[in-house]
Amino acid sequence: MSVRIAVVGAGKFGQMHLDVFTQLGTTGVAELAAIAEANPKRAEELRAQYHGCPVYTDFREMLGKETLDAVSVATPDHLHREIAVAAARAGMHVLVEKPLDVTVEGCAEMVRAAKDAGVLLQVDFHKRYDPDHQAIERRVRSGDLGDVLYGSVYMEDRIEVPSEWFPHWAAASSPAWFLGVHFYDLARWIVKSEARSVYATGTKNTLLRDYGIDTYDCINAKVDFENGAAFAFDTSWVLPKGFEAIVNQAIRVVGTKGVFECDSQDRGSRSCLGLEGMATYNNNFRREGFDTYGRKVLRGYGVESIEDFAWNVAFLKNGKGLNSLKGCWASGEDGLEVTRIAVAVHESIRSGQVVRLR
Ligand SMILES: NC(=O)c1ccc[n+]([C@@H]2O[C@H](COP(=O)([O-])OP(=O)(O)OC[C@H]3O[C@@H](n4cnc5c(N)ncnc54)[C@H](O)[C@@H]3O)[C@@H](O)[C@H]2O)c1
Repeated sequence: MSVRIAVVGAGKFGQMHLDVFTQLGTTGVAELAAIAEANPKRAEELRAQYHGCPVYTDFREMLGKETLDAVSVATPDHLHREIAVAAARAGMHVLVEKPLDVTVEGCAEMVRAAKDAGVLLQVDFHKRYDPDHQAIERRVRSGDLGDVLYGSVYMEDRIEVPSEWFPHWAAASSPAWFLGVHFYDLARWIVKSEARSVYATGTKNTLLRDYGIDTYDCINAKVDFENGAAFAFDTSWVLPKGFEAIVNQAIRVVGTKGVFECDSQDRGSRSCLGLEGMATYNNNFRREGFDTYGRKVLRGYGVESIEDFAWNVAFLKNGKGLNSLKGCWASGEDGLEVTRIAVAVHESIRSGQVVRLR
């Protein structure tokens, strides 16, 4: 029984959702049933590209006209809420890009809407699907690291991400919203504990001064978890264009019995092609191969995380209950906890104080 999924927001990352659901169409698990994209020019391109798949510019019209099992939302961070709530109320399972919403009230409303409707609300926190991160989680869970004492994380983008990819909404985001939330969630998932307090600093410099985008260049946050683990998260999105990859990221976790380190960007392969300069690759995120029919196949944790939603919906459509879903997927409640942390991070920057969450 194939699952009918629509994508709302088909910009840069929405394309990944389109690719994943299109690919699943060849397996019979799920199919790309409709697209809603508010930008008329982009919608026209999509009509030409996805023959037979209805493309709407108004997501409400799509929800009213199409028979759907699920909707995945890949609009800008601050525009997830209305769409997710409307889809849940219309009885559809919902996948939302990270962060779930940029307000705690927004997340709470989304969680409530999904609960009232009895539908799945899942967040695309794909760091949980990275095999190296899963190894850390496994060795913490098995006790091999002992009690987690502290950890540190960095996640940095090159400057073209806020200044060229989405300059129109970068000011409504920040390194914490765009990057930090990935690792706030990963740290919670690894230590199995919630944040107790947050202290953060942030610097506005080149993005505001040289690009006219009023947001932080970097945000540096310290989060103390209820079980005693303390994590430092350094995030920024102003790496120079000459940096070897679009993203730079790593995590290390130190416990009473061990330490686990992962360079989540540089997985060991590097190149220098013509004038492109030195480059490293995170092939774990997205890589292309071919199946036995010669069709292009996408793999990697960025793909699996979205695919997993479709598998979950298929599981539910086959009569299983929400409570029987297992796996590493992130729920609406996880999304809400992560947003609590990110909101506290911004509050702490503004006040210069430690913000207590519990
Ligand atoms: N998981 C990841 O690794 C990852 C990476 C990049 C972005 N993201 C997240 O994905 C989301 C989208 O980011 P992006 O970089 O693709 O942004 P983008 O600006 O490239 O694309 C957003 C698209 O949403 C469309 N849109 C806006 N409002 C809409 C509405 N009401 N109905 C239909 N379409 C609407 C816009 O026209 C645009 O095409 C953000 O939440 C972002 O944080 C996730």
